[in-house]
Amino acid sequence: MKMRQFSMKDYEQVRRVWEESGLEIRPGDSKEDVRRKVARDGGLFLVAEDGGSIVGTAMGAWDGRRGWIYHLGVLPGHQRKGIGSELVKEFEKRMIAKRVPKVNASVFDDNVASRALFEKMGFVPDRRSVLHGKRLGSG
Ligand SMILES: CC(C)(COP(=O)(O)OP(=O)(O)OC[C@H]1O[C@@H](n2cnc3c(N)ncnc32)[C@H](O)[C@@H]1OP(=O)(O)O)[C@@H](O)C(=O)NCCC(=O)NCCS
Repeated sequence: MKMRQFSMKDYEQVRRVWEESGLEIRPGDSKEDVRRKVARDGGLFLVAEDGGSIVGTAMGAWDGRRGWIYHLGVLPGHQRKGIGSELVKEFEKRMIAKRVPKVNASVFDDNVASRALFEKMGFVPDRRSVLHGKRLGSG
């Protein structure tokens, strides 16, 4: 398994990983929006390759205060082999290099696999907080 930074030529394969792993596709996942994200901090968007094809991905971001990890997904046939954990570890390494003090991951309450993974990796759920979101304009 090889891990590397995402590039736009990976978009279709990554989109397939998102869809096949069951991740919810959001308006911000269009090719155009991903291009904007990559131009901002593409070094935090990772893919895991096996035999030349992409089997896992994690989209990271740093807002200047906190690091965020989004869209961690591994193709069903490649799950439970440590790929998700390796992606998070690599992401943490890159965040530490940027001196990011804390990283967050927003995980649905009923997502047993993802919650287990993040908790195993030392992420602590904050039961006091509820994520609030608001769409702006046409975004
Ligand atoms: C969550 C996900 C990325 C995990 O990827 P993965 O490569 O299978 O994870 P790992 O093999 O690194 O697993 C690490 C640990 O997480 C936990 N875990 C992973 N999958 C699990 C599952 N289905 N049930 C319970 N625990 C699970 C286990 O503790 C596991 O360690 P173990 O295999 O030694 O028991 C993968 O299940 C996935 O793509 N899910 C669908 C998409 C999704 O919901 N993403 C998260 C959005 S926040």
